[in-house]
Amino acid sequence: MELSYKFPEGFWWGSATSATQIEGAANKDGKGKNIWDHWYELESNRFFNNVGPESTSDFYHHYKEDIRLMKQIGHNSFRISISWSRLIPSGRGEVNQRAVSFYNAVIDNLIDNGIEPFVNLYHFDMPLDLQNEGGWESREVVEAYKGYAKICFELFGDRVKKWFTFNEPIVPVEAGYLYNIHYPNIVDFKRATQVAYNTVVASAKAVEVYHSLQFKDGKIGIILNLTPSYPRSDHPADLKAARIADLFFNRCFLDPAVLGKYPQELIEIIKEYSELPLIHDGDLDLIKNNTVDILGVNYYQPRRVKAKEYAVNLESPLMPEWFFDRYEMPGRKMNKYRGWEIYEKGIFDILINLKDNYGNIESFISENGMGVEDEERFMQNEQIQDDYRIEFIREHLKWLHKSIEAGCNVKGYHLWTFMDNWSWMNAYKNRYGFISVNIETKERSLKKSAQWFTEVSRNNGF
Ligand code: BG6
Repeated sequence: MELSYKFPEGFWWGSATSATQIEGAANKDGKGKNIWDHWYELESNRFFNNVGPESTSDFYHHYKEDIRLMKQIGHNSFRISISWSRLIPSGRGEVNQRAVSFYNAVIDNLIDNGIEPFVNLYHFDMPLDLQNEGGWESREVVEAYKGYAKICFELFGDRVKKWFTFNEPIVPVEAGYLYNIHYPNIVDFKRATQVAYNTVVASAKAVEVYHSLQFKDGKIGIILNLTPSYPRSDHPADLKAARIADLFFNRCFLDPAVLGKYPQELIEIIKEYSELPLIHDGDLDLIKNNTVDILGVNYYQPRRVKAKEYAVNLESPLMPEWFFDRYEMPGRKMNKYRGWEIYEKGIFDILINLKDNYGNIESFISENGMGVEDEERFMQNEQIQDDYRIEFIREHLKWLHKSIEAGCNVKGYHLWTFMDNWSWMNAYKNRYGFISVNIETKERSLKKSAQWFTEVSRNNGF
């Protein structure tokens, strides 16, 4: 078949998920509590329609059926995360053997079906006991994470060849320590800086442990939501605003993870306006010597900024937004079903930046997707006719293809997400899956996009 967009041999086609969002069984089979279980008990009204993490698509009991569906729609790879509090209920110490059996079964089942497991260690789900010790602010918790990572590698590393230390580590920083969106609902720039820094140290420690175990053919990386930062204009003040937003939201993780060091300009800004985090002896060498092998790129939308129009109130708490204002660019294309901007070329700009400034590190698109509210309204002939999602994916894939032609080292595309799932505060508000899930009966059905994607992955292009 003549294809306009043919992808390289061995390209990874699949989708991504996270444990808390799909597993369900939050209080079953020895799982310990994490911050989501706890926060829902405290303030269920903070969650859309009061729906909490117990009630998800229930992958825990449906994984065999789900893996069959993955195979049916042509997946050759699939991302899960391990629930730290399922595997080690208190965060450190005793390992829950029922969790070991569950993850072994999922991994083996994926491999038996020709689907490469991509496994992430941390997707926003701190065990409650460790949060009570200070969460990512605490160096003891960093050590507990290192122990957890080692146990995962030893248990599953004989079969799992793609590991990730964190998904979107900026999110717990922003949502949990700056903007009062996630638990522990702290608003404090200095504490946020410590959390960000400790996460970078934790990631480097996991990379160090993984490499020391010398698994054959295994790679370890990190997954970052890289949000290209576009200035309103070429005016120096707008350019500076965009550069600072890039430092705060992208480079604070990208540079240490891939280059092994922090950007000097970021250090200067933190020093000038706040305090540097507490740095332990040896940390900077650890970061320098333990860069990642592979990078997952989550891309949804760009960040558009302009220079600040009014002086900031120096009495208010320090925030990244002291340095730039959001820019609502006239005429930008919006996802009218979710409210996020759609800018397909962003994917190309990110990958070119990785090629030019980050040693063309091996990468893959680890999340990209289109959330839709009330998606049942598009049901016809018992199927969700999500042509908008097909167009969204297709247009992003065109730019991805262009980036490969330009020499970018990008090896795959994973949609967020496989099946509609529970999305934190938004619960089931926005649907992203190839597969729709009836939340009451847990019945799964293929959306039109799943059928389209089957052809794309089977043909390795379109
Ligand atoms: C991604 C996260 O950034 O956004 C996912 O990694 C999340 O965990 C997804 O579910 C969609 O978010 P929302 O807010 O549209 O439900």
